[in-house]
Amino acid sequence: MSSQPGTAFPFEPHYLEVLGSRMHYVDVGPRDGTPVLFLHGNPTSSYLWRNIIPYVSPTHRCIAPDLIGLGKSDKPKLGYFFEDHVRYLDAFIAAMGLEAVFLVIHDWGSALGFHWARRHPDRVKGIAFMEFIRPIPTWAEWPEAARDLFQAFRTEGVGRQLVIDQNVFIEGVLPQCVVRPLSAAEMDHYREPFRDPPSREPLWRFPNELPIAGEPAGMVATVEAYLDWLHTTPVPKLLFWGTPGILVPPAEAARLARDLPNCRAVDIGPGLHYLQEDNPDLIGHEIAQWLAQV
Ligand code: BEZ
Repeated sequence: MSSQPGTAFPFEPHYLEVLGSRMHYVDVGPRDGTPVLFLHGNPTSSYLWRNIIPYVSPTHRCIAPDLIGLGKSDKPKLGYFFEDHVRYLDAFIAAMGLEAVFLVIHDWGSALGFHWARRHPDRVKGIAFMEFIRPIPTWAEWPEAARDLFQAFRTEGVGRQLVIDQNVFIEGVLPQCVVRPLSAAEMDHYREPFRDPPSREPLWRFPNELPIAGEPAGMVATVEAYLDWLHTTPVPKLLFWGTPGILVPPAEAARLARDLPNCRAVDIGPGLHYLQEDNPDLIGHEIAQWLAQV
């Protein structure tokens, strides 16, 4: 497949009624076998997986929902706390009748996927993950270039002004956390769900839920619980990391590759946070190979 990431999103839309709202999802590939569930994070959508799914769909059913409030899913009036996303994703998986899955997860999709896996360990056949949510013990360990901005996000006044009024998560954080420039068409695709300021509520809540310096305590406990599970379960794991990375810098990737049971680590080369936008071909190819072996 091409070395220049493609812009097109050639997937038929599917919608499922979940807790009284519609969730949009991609659903392609053969119906038999264990499906692969792709979970995105903030502020993306199933669009993030557009250049990876084609590597997996020849052999596996690929299901990629848009989290509630994001992408083409509905935007019910919620606080968009992590627990809101848990309720909707749990209900989505139940309504889809997914018994067992492989997970391919990123950012807040990783927190949701790991949290689901820890609670349903017998239903998870393997986990591919990248730039995932883990506790950051102090602000000194958050990338210096983004420290002031993320601290500002975690305030009601300035944080809401930045994310909701100025749309900084879409216009600033997203393009600045990809090494290559995102094209105008790609940016428009990511902008589309958030044209209207009130629609940006989920984009503001997520950085407020990041487990940094012990806060918020409930989120720290949730993330520590899934990390403890991850360090003991033999479920096959595939970790992608980039340089310099943001949530998973190279030194942390090396430690994880050493300490997690049954974990293969793949260096994607230059990458910040949205690794799927920088090296989708390598990620897709490696996931397809891994699925053929596990
Ligand atoms: C996040 O949403 O968790 C995030 C986004 C960009 C950089 C780092 C973290």
